[in-house]
Amino acid sequence: MSLRLFARKDLPSLMREAEDEPGVASLRRALGPLNLLTLGIGAIIGAGIFVITGQAAAQFAGPAIVISFVLAGTACGFAGLCYAEFASMIPIAGSAYTYSYATLGELTAWIIGWDLILEYAFGAATVAVGWSGHLRAFFHDIGWSLPAIPTSNFALFGMAIHLKYDYVGFLVILAITTILVIGIKESANFTTAIVILKVAVVCMFIALATAFLMSHSWQPNHWHPFIPANTGQRGQFGWSGILRGAGVVFFAYIGFDAVSTAAQEAKNPKKDMPLGILGSLVICTVLYILVSGLLTRLVPYAQLNVPDPVVVGIRTVGQPWATFLVELGALGGLATVMLVMLLGQSRVFYSMSRDGLLWPWASKIHPRFRTPYITSIVVGIFVAILATLIPLNILDEMTSVGTLLAFVLVSLGVWVMRRTHPELKRPFKTPLVPLVPILSILFCSVLIVSLSGWTLLRLIVWLIIGLAIYFGYGRKHSKVQIMNAAKAPLVTGD
Ligand code: ALA
Repeated sequence: MSLRLFARKDLPSLMREAEDEPGVASLRRALGPLNLLTLGIGAIIGAGIFVITGQAAAQFAGPAIVISFVLAGTACGFAGLCYAEFASMIPIAGSAYTYSYATLGELTAWIIGWDLILEYAFGAATVAVGWSGHLRAFFHDIGWSLPAIPTSNFALFGMAIHLKYDYVGFLVILAITTILVIGIKESANFTTAIVILKVAVVCMFIALATAFLMSHSWQPNHWHPFIPANTGQRGQFGWSGILRGAGVVFFAYIGFDAVSTAAQEAKNPKKDMPLGILGSLVICTVLYILVSGLLTRLVPYAQLNVPDPVVVGIRTVGQPWATFLVELGALGGLATVMLVMLLGQSRVFYSMSRDGLLWPWASKIHPRFRTPYITSIVVGIFVAILATLIPLNILDEMTSVGTLLAFVLVSLGVWVMRRTHPELKRPFKTPLVPLVPILSILFCSVLIVSLSGWTLLRLIVWLIIGLAIYFGYGRKHSKVQIMNAAKAPLVTGD
């Protein structure tokens, strides 16, 4: 492998990039600490808790999904501590991609950037499918109905293909893309309002379910057995099911890292980035453990494999107004997740394009809205198509595996950086390095291998496609490579 593949961004110039260049159209610094915290919670609470919890409990872990949440939350806690150090030190758009460019070199940075598409684009598509399911349930409850989802069946290379065309998912992604093109400040205000509703609804579920159980001597109790016996297949209940469940509900935590992608739009990134990342993670972990515990106590886990399990749970407490509010909160809540994910995706492309690894149009800023509008539109259309065609469980696992891989690389980066650049100022320091990065790598790796073999295979195919683009375009246009070549024209690293 060529040494040039490890070409790194120069750290001092990277830090200068975090400052705004006078006279150049740059992203607007509009986000304060509360905006960042709500951006984090806005990204985190979504389809994971409102949709995937029920499916993971029904198929993999039973009531022990609570333990899955603890495991996945612990992995995210370690990774979050690593993210916070990087985000406070290099507060520029691009998140894990940018951090690894400075530490592990260009090839790894590319892999992470490409991998983050799985997190943000596939993640937004997953949530869009969940949103569509919730909208249908909501309409059904108020006596309306949407036209059925068209499907088609055909054979391709001898394989039977079943396609559904989830037009609701398609339309909601396009609507959110429009908000994003109009502006970051407007997007953040929209997020703040809905995050309050979403957290209120989750807290309301916890309060009503607890009150109901207390007034019924803690009955029903569907926690028996708390860990259903393994069916004989790896990942179906028992401890391997808890692990598989953790890999799947890991999706519910994704998003705290998206805060870091908005670092360049934060007013005071050094102080507020760690607060936004870790604060939102802690709040969500507590809420998830409570919701999943109460839900599986109220409803037999086998009945939770539905598009709206939390709605099914709240129905059992017999308060129709509360059911209505949960449905509304879920719809709004999922919308903010899509918004933050689409925001994250376009900002990663923006950074990659500024580095020359992607085409220049991807970093073009709108003169009036000051948003990377072309990349937002292209990403929006791509995600809308994914949401229309790909089933929820595939999208969900692809999102989890992509994110977990990015977490592994970021944690490695923190560790490497402490050794290579011990002198750098770190407004937030990950505690107990290298122990915390190592634990993060271990936990995330266990979750990766707990996912299905098909997911791992798809990840490999995805990475191969990414490498083809890197070698076909990115490497030749990389600004770092061009600069290195200009400095040492006779050095032939490859
Ligand atoms: N954590 C986000 C969700 O659960 C991705 O929807």
